[in-house]
This record gives sequence, C-alpha cells and structure tokens, in this order.
Amino acid sequence: ADSVKVALLGCGTVGGEVARLLHEQADELAARAGAPVELAGIAVRRPDKHPELPRHLLTSDAEALVNSDVDVVVELIGGIDPVRKWLLSALHQGKSVVTANKALLAEYSAELSEAADASGADLYFEAAVAGAIPLLRPLRESLAGDRITRVLGIVNGTTNYILSAMDETGSGYAETLDEASRLGYAEADPTADVDGYDAASKAAILASLAFHTRVTAHDVHREGIGAIGAADIDAAKALGRTVKLLAICERVLDAEGGESVSARVYPAMIPRSHQLAGVNGAFNAVYVEADAAGELMFFGHGAGGSPTASAVLGDLVAVARNRVLGGRGPRESAHAALPVRPMGMT
Ligand code: NDP
Ligand code: HSE
Repeated sequence: ADSVKVALLGCGTVGGEVARLLHEQADELAARAGAPVELAGIAVRRPDKHPELPRHLLTSDAEALVNSDVDVVVELIGGIDPVRKWLLSALHQGKSVVTANKALLAEYSAELSEAADASGADLYFEAAVAGAIPLLRPLRESLAGDRITRVLGIVNGTTNYILSAMDETGSGYAETLDEASRLGYAEADPTADVDGYDAASKAAILASLAFHTRVTAHDVHREGIGAIGAADIDAAKALGRTVKLLAICERVLDAEGGESVSARVYPAMIPRSHQLAGVNGAFNAVYVEADAAGELMFFGHGAGGSPTASAVLGDLVAVARNRVLGGRGPRESAHAALPVRPMGMT
C-alpha cells in the first residue's frame, strides 16, 4: 500500500521521541499499520537548533507543512494559538490529527471534532491525559456499554513529582520543580502544572468522555499546589496522611433528583494507607467507577517524552490503519446529555 505521510509539528520532549521511534521502529510500525508510516516533514520553531534531525525534513513553517501533501498531522507543539487554526485547517482538508494538546482539547474539542466529522477525518488524543496510560480509549470504547459514575485520580506528573519529593525527602518546592522541567515532565510554562490548569484541562477531557457531555476547562473548579509548603506536608504526615493533587469528575444529583456533572481539581490530604498515596514521582493513577464494572484502576507513567510518545504512536498506528483499511475513529457519542455544574461545585 502507499505510505501514510505524516507531518510532525513540534520536536521537543515528546515530538523528539516520536521522531526517534518512527525511525527506529519503521518496519514494525509499517507491519502494524499495513503501510509504511513516512515522516514527510518536521516543523520546529528553530530548525538550526536541531542538528540531530534530517535537514531536508525540517521547516519553521508549520502552516505550509500542514497544507503540503500529507495524510496525518501529529501536533506536539502545545498551546492554543496558532495551533488551533492549523489543526482545524488539517481536519477541514480531511487530514487526520493526532495530538497530545490537552489545553487545546479542553477548550475546543467540540469545534475540532465537528471539523473531523464534517470531513471524515480522524481526531485521536490518547496522549493528552495521563501520558502512557491507556485511559481515553477504555472510557470511550470499552466502557461505552456501562454507566460511569466517577473518575478520580492523579493526572499531573509534575505536581505529583514535587509533592512526592517534598513528602519523601523534604526537598524544596522550587528545586523540585526545576528537576521536573529538566526531566521533561513540566509544561513549557510550568505554572500550568503547579496552578492546576493542566489537571483541570485533563479533568475536562475525562468528564466529557466519561459522561458523554461537554465539559471545558472553565467548568472545572481548580486549585493548584502553590500554597502547599513544608508545614502542610508535615501536618499531613502527623495525621497519617499525604498530600496529592486530585482530579475528581462525578455525576451528582441535585435537590430535584436531576443529574449533572461536577469536575474539580485540588490538593487533598489522603490517608497514607490509600493506594493513591503510594503513587509517587511522575506516575499517574486514575480510578474509574462504573455501575456494572465496579471499580477499575489505571496506573503508569503520566509524563515524559517516551511514555507520551508511546500513546502518540498508538494513535498514529490507529489512524494509519484507518487510512489503509478504511474506517474511522474514534467516534464520539451524542453530547450535551448532562448539564455541567458551574465550577465543579457539588
Ligand atoms: P516542548 O516544549 O519540549 O516542545 C515543543 C516543540 O514545539 C519544540 O520542538 C518547538 O520548537 C516546537 N514549536 C514551538 N512553537 C512552534 C511554532 N510556532 N512552530 C513550529 N514549532 C514550534 O513540549 P513537549 O514536547 O513537552 O509538549 C508538547 C505537547 O505535548 C504539549 O501540548 C504538551 O502539553 C503535551 N504533552 C507533554 C507531555 C510531557 O510529558 N512533556 C505529556 C503529555 C502531553 P523548538 O524545538 O525549535 O523550540
Ligand atoms: N506537564 C504534564 C504533567 C505532562 O506533568 O503531567 C503530561 O501531561
């Protein structure tokens, strides 16, 4: 079959790993996709800073790359503008999109999925929540026949890395944040992590998929970890507890018996005996509760270049297969079934 031509937008922490794996695993990926998956171009901000990449593939003009002869756009730049415009343009042209951009999805997933539906393109974003952990597909597909009541867990690796280090070694907040940035866990602007914006974006994506409704980051009650100091960690320890930044998305009943959705992110003291208390470093863990399935737990590397690249490549193989074999995915359920509580209040 003809090769599936891929435009890679962004080649930093995650994109660099995607480019490496595309090269190193070319034969296996081609076998799984049913056709060679060919890297047709790589857009970065400063091509001269990337001597490790083939010069002929590099460009600083992401828009031109999106508009060139490619089948799939893999977006690993981040942020809303100008990426939103490029991805909409790709989808309008029928080009499939794979992205890890939770900030964009938490605000504009309705617009993006409508564009995908209109042209029949694919829009996949497994890497946007909880890094390597397969979580969005189970919510969207495996649990589509069940009724999910709650999704709860640790979805930001950077803040979990900081809180774990403060708890385990008494390390300072600032030095640990620097370390998380150096290891490639933190966002380009790490206030997105520490102030809870990143976790709130992920909560919005999780709640939308779990409850078949539209939740945006603005609907999520958000508190970060900026105010947590050594005294708070010590106080928690004295109570047999530890501090974790939790994202909690749930169905709630109002006084009239009507149902709505609540989503919130805040640092919580949890008993040290709780399984989440043992989730340390940049690991993430998410509990899903559903009527028939009961409680499920998802655990793994939630941040970092190579774990995130694993999820991106999984999506890329799915998109390539759809191109080669026909078919489309992922299809979303009908939306707006449940109202969303303002700012996640219960
Ligand atoms: P990085 O900052 O490491 O990389 C960003 C890349 O985008 C760089 O290669 C940069 O170019 C390029 N870039 C920035 N602006 C432009 C532009 N205008 N045109 C072309 N290229 C541009 O980010 P990450 O790899 O860490 O994150 C990428 C995305 O993945 C984000 O949406 C992030 O939220 C998401 N994500 C990240 C995870 C992680 O653990 N790091 C985990 C899950 C999701 P240059 O190299 O020249 O600066
Ligand atoms: N900055 C994010 C985190 C990356 O620390 O969890 C993974 O989405």
